[in-house]
Amino acid sequence: MVAPIKARPSIQDVARLAGVSLGTVSNVLNNPDRVKPETVARVTKAINQLGFVRNESARQLKAGKSRTVGLIVLDIANPFFSELARGAEDAATNERYSVIMGNSGEDLERESSYLSLFEEQRVGGVVISPIDDVSQTVVAMRNRGTQVVVVDRQVDAKIGCSISVDDMAGGRMAIDHLLEQGKRKIAFVGGPLDFEQVSLRFEGAKAAIKDSKTKATLKHIKTPSLTVLAGREAGDQIVASGKANWPDAVFAANDLVAVGLLQAFMFKASVRVPQDIAVIGYDDIAFAEAAIVPLSSIRQPAALLGATAVEMLIDEMESPATHKHRQITFQPELVARGSTQSS
Ligand code: RIB
Repeated sequence: MVAPIKARPSIQDVARLAGVSLGTVSNVLNNPDRVKPETVARVTKAINQLGFVRNESARQLKAGKSRTVGLIVLDIANPFFSELARGAEDAATNERYSVIMGNSGEDLERESSYLSLFEEQRVGGVVISPIDDVSQTVVAMRNRGTQVVVVDRQVDAKIGCSISVDDMAGGRMAIDHLLEQGKRKIAFVGGPLDFEQVSLRFEGAKAAIKDSKTKATLKHIKTPSLTVLAGREAGDQIVASGKANWPDAVFAANDLVAVGLLQAFMFKASVRVPQDIAVIGYDDIAFAEAAIVPLSSIRQPAALLGATAVEMLIDEMESPATHKHRQITFQPELVARGSTQSS
């Protein structure tokens, strides 16, 4: 027989058990240094005895100012987003805000559900790394009273703040580095291209090839997602095409795809990296340096992206009258390691 769930003890129960007024319990909870220590001790004892838990969201709702930020990331399995979330949470904590995080998992329905949940829970604002263009969603939510800041993608500053990295510059940087290593038959491995991050990196890569004034070529090997498995399958496809058809370098749309390529080349086949095929990724996740061959990558300041997004959101929440929307774009950075440079 399952015991019936007891009603949650209320603040009235605490006041009654401690023999004090509701106001005294509220003061103990919110301004304990204004209450005599013996009263604080008596109320605390009653709270612990009853197992009372304050209803913080109701309190913040009543105060009309939530100190909670909703964060929606595209893929929590990708260390880039874990790092972004860490930066976001550190910035929120510094301003005495808390963060509730959801993972859209690249699923539009899940992304929409989290946006609705955070709006219904009356969070103070939302930071989102979106799957697709969310400009209209940002406008609609703001009109209903929830501020939204977009991270890892740009939106027009007329409708909201966005914090991203110049992915075209990053794509160009990756190709310029491979060209400097003498590579000329290059493949861009990544997809889907309707991910703006991927398409901009590919555009930057194409521009670098065009401007290089060399006979270098760039082929696109599409992947269904940006995962290690997708990279491994693309690597198997490259190996199976026969050595005469191999590219001499691959630029992976992110580090997870690059790790999959390294696994296919070095665990499953005897491709020498970088001698036969150089590999460069994108993000510079912590694992990149520890990969079987230290992975060259285009670094994104993930934690800084998350922290800046939260700071812009809090500025908008706390100073709506003076807040100015900004489109902040950070520059990527080349980190050259053994997967592109022969020692
Ligand atoms: O999730 C897709 C990719 O876009 C991540 O690896 C990161 O590069 C982000 O910008």
